[in-house]
Amino acid sequence: MSTARSVGIRIVQDGKEHFGEFGKAANLLEYITTETPFGRPAPCGGRGRCGKCRVVVESGEMSPPTEEEKRLLRKDEIGRGVRLACMTRPLSDAVIILDKEKRAAGNKTAVFPDDFENSPSFGKRTVVLAEPSLEDQTADWERLVRDAGNGPIEAPLAVLACLPEALRKEGGEVTLCLHGSRLAAAEAGDTRGELYGAAVDIGTTTVAVYLADLRTGRNIDVAAELNAQASFGADVISRIHHADASPGGLRHMRERISNQIDAMIADLAARNGLDPRRIYGVALAGNTTMIHLALGLPPRQIAAAPYLPVTVEPLTLPADELSLNIAPGGLVYVLPGISAYVGADIGAAILASGMTDSEDPSLLIDIGTNGEIALGSSRRLITCSTAAGPACEGAHIRHGVGGIAGAVSKVGLRDENLVFETILGERPIGLCGSGIADLLAILLETGVVDETGRMIAPGEEGAPGFMKERLVLADGEPAFVLVPEAESAVGEAVVFTQKDVREIQLAKAAIAAGIDTLVEASGIGWDEIGRLYLAGGFGNYIDKASAVRIGLLPSRLSDRIEAVGNAAGKGALMALLSTRQRKKCSEIADRAEYVELSSSPRFQEAYIDRMTFTRD
Ligand code: FES
Repeated sequence: MSTARSVGIRIVQDGKEHFGEFGKAANLLEYITTETPFGRPAPCGGRGRCGKCRVVVESGEMSPPTEEEKRLLRKDEIGRGVRLACMTRPLSDAVIILDKEKRAAGNKTAVFPDDFENSPSFGKRTVVLAEPSLEDQTADWERLVRDAGNGPIEAPLAVLACLPEALRKEGGEVTLCLHGSRLAAAEAGDTRGELYGAAVDIGTTTVAVYLADLRTGRNIDVAAELNAQASFGADVISRIHHADASPGGLRHMRERISNQIDAMIADLAARNGLDPRRIYGVALAGNTTMIHLALGLPPRQIAAAPYLPVTVEPLTLPADELSLNIAPGGLVYVLPGISAYVGADIGAAILASGMTDSEDPSLLIDIGTNGEIALGSSRRLITCSTAAGPACEGAHIRHGVGGIAGAVSKVGLRDENLVFETILGERPIGLCGSGIADLLAILLETGVVDETGRMIAPGEEGAPGFMKERLVLADGEPAFVLVPEAESAVGEAVVFTQKDVREIQLAKAAIAAGIDTLVEASGIGWDEIGRLYLAGGFGNYIDKASAVRIGLLPSRLSDRIEAVGNAAGKGALMALLSTRQRKKCSEIADRAEYVELSSSPRFQEAYIDRMTFTRD
């Protein structure tokens, strides 16, 4: 029973195929994530705990199902060839089917109003070169510099390589795209009407790319996808571990994300009828770990005390260093971060919120894979990060999913009936963060879950009959059936379990305690806080009343909560479009204070206080 003879493997997903030799991969998950362009969600990092890395074996002999698979998969599923990729190795040539990858929907796709301040660093002008002859054998670059006039210019090698064609194709008419004195492109003919850029927000779960017209400052289009590194775990620590522990891990993670960003930019350009080589600048925001992985910087020290990134400074890098196929001399602006756990995404979100322009203090909370919090005004800015874990994004929740098509995103109670909505109206596949908050709020209100977080068992008193009849035992623990098997798209009932309640309880306690600690550390009174900006996809969808009921957000600010969508993406766009805003972003990062919660006794106290679901 070994794979000493390398076996041939065919992976099929959504009409695309990959053929290869299985080689030395430890299991199907490792093979799929390292050798193929496909990915698999793996929130538990391949430890056989989450059951999210399912594949279907169409043909071929596999290693026998493990105990973990027997626990997480039903007998009939195993009979149909369903396996957990992280637990399975092929023993013969095999065909493996991956389900159609569901794309992140909506969460990061809000298109912002097109009234951004616009003073891009890139500008274009045309020049017509004198025709070369035997009498004038001046080389192409020297001829361009001579005829272009207007002071010295410099060009990277990639732009020089384009000159022979550009200088001859349109009778010597050339458009120069300049970033200061540096040439980003030399293009045949008059291309002054085409000047584009992209802003990217690399979230641990979702990557969003915004395409912008640098002439008008308009956001043209936006795309969002699940982060292609999701196969290596749901949280930053799993990603750091993979980058650090496996040979070539960092290089591989870097390639994954740069290939994804490059493909997303190319897709956006294609669907808008643009040439990606007319994209000259890319602004990059993301949490500190995601930025490290995108740049290929070793992230190991981020995971261990005293939590030191390689750098959080703003960087301007040639786009080809990140393998982005935009203009040959295109540039990437990496936006500055604040600390290991308050990244460039929060800096960009603070910029977008405008909170540092006002004398009245505001609170900004981004509940994503971690919970990052900023409190400030034009006078002071103070930040912290809570290790809330990715439960609020659906990870580590039995039927939790990200904000993807088919995710239950809203749950309500109408005349003793539970009603729900799914993203894009598809058959339900599980619960995303906003659906979890709604459901938990209802379970608390109806007594199915008490203030300590205990869910009543089937048959136990304490909740109305129409709720009690939905209680079952799942793996020996109480669970509430939201979607019966017949209505679900995953072949089993969508349930919310006692363990799920505990996961959310830990996450909400961390975030609520982080808010308490930051407010106290700032010396700002609760009444002085004029607004609570809720950033990120979760904030976009979550019902404010549900968030307050489950104790995630302070009831004292319930009338001041404002969802601001993907503020990090908006901030990255602002930085792309305006040199002044880019400078402001750096000033925000420079003056932001960071409070380390892991060593704060006050945070520990608040964390325990906030563990229950007691109303404030
Ligand atoms: S069970 Fe395979 S990745 Fe979690």
